[in-house]
Amino acid sequence: MKEKIEIYDSGEKLAESVAKIIQQKTIEKQKRNEQLFIALSGGNTPKILFELLANQYKKTINWNSIRFYWVDERCVPPNDDESNFGVVKSLLFNNIEIYGSRIERMQGENEPHEEAFRYMEILSSQLPSKNSVPSFDLILLGMGDDGHTASIFPNQPHLLNSDKLCEVSEHPISGQKRITLTTKTINNAAEIIFLVTGEKKAQIIKEILKQEDNYLEYPSAHIQPTWGELTWMLDKEAAQFL
Ligand code: 6PG
Repeated sequence: MKEKIEIYDSGEKLAESVAKIIQQKTIEKQKRNEQLFIALSGGNTPKILFELLANQYKKTINWNSIRFYWVDERCVPPNDDESNFGVVKSLLFNNIEIYGSRIERMQGENEPHEEAFRYMEILSSQLPSKNSVPSFDLILLGMGDDGHTASIFPNQPHLLNSDKLCEVSEHPISGQKRITLTTKTINNAAEIIFLVTGEKKAQIIKEILKQEDNYLEYPSAHIQPTWGELTWMLDKEAAQFL
């Protein structure tokens, strides 16, 4: 599987490209009277996209043709500043017309293991499956400065090898509990897009994309779709060593 690499002048240009992809996918799905199953990541990078969607695609995307899920969530209440759902609610959902039923957040306020189990049940019952595993149409991922993605951090091999759809993880520095999709679920998507910006990530991007050194120490290097497509969307700073 050869991933695609796209390099953009800025985070804004990168976000515009992703927004167009989402719009185009919803149009294709609507033609077949189907819904688009998307999983969102947290962090700062996708905020540009959420704002762009709310401002420039408010009326040009049929939002109720999309089903929103999360790649990961911090184990905090939805109104906590740390909540990945909370960020999307404030930047996007509060500014568009969308039914609550189209939004299936990970409930960070629940007991973590119970929530991981509940979310697995949701994915199994709501998503179409491929090779007997729930399959997202599109997953948007970020990459941390340590090469983590979702809430799969370095030195957490049980999350890379898990046979479960979701797991409970722990941030290595803060100890914050997280709910995360596993690579099993992520890699079964039809399309995976990494959104990575900033020079701080340039060295790891180089090591992963050139498969240099111990690149497999980075969880992001384990995102290898089993049947779908992977695109790394980078800004110039993050791509400077390629
Ligand atoms: C989270 C995210 C996480 C994020 C990376 C990149 O819950 O924090 O899901 O995996 O994508 O940490 O974050 P930035 O976009 O802020 O660099």
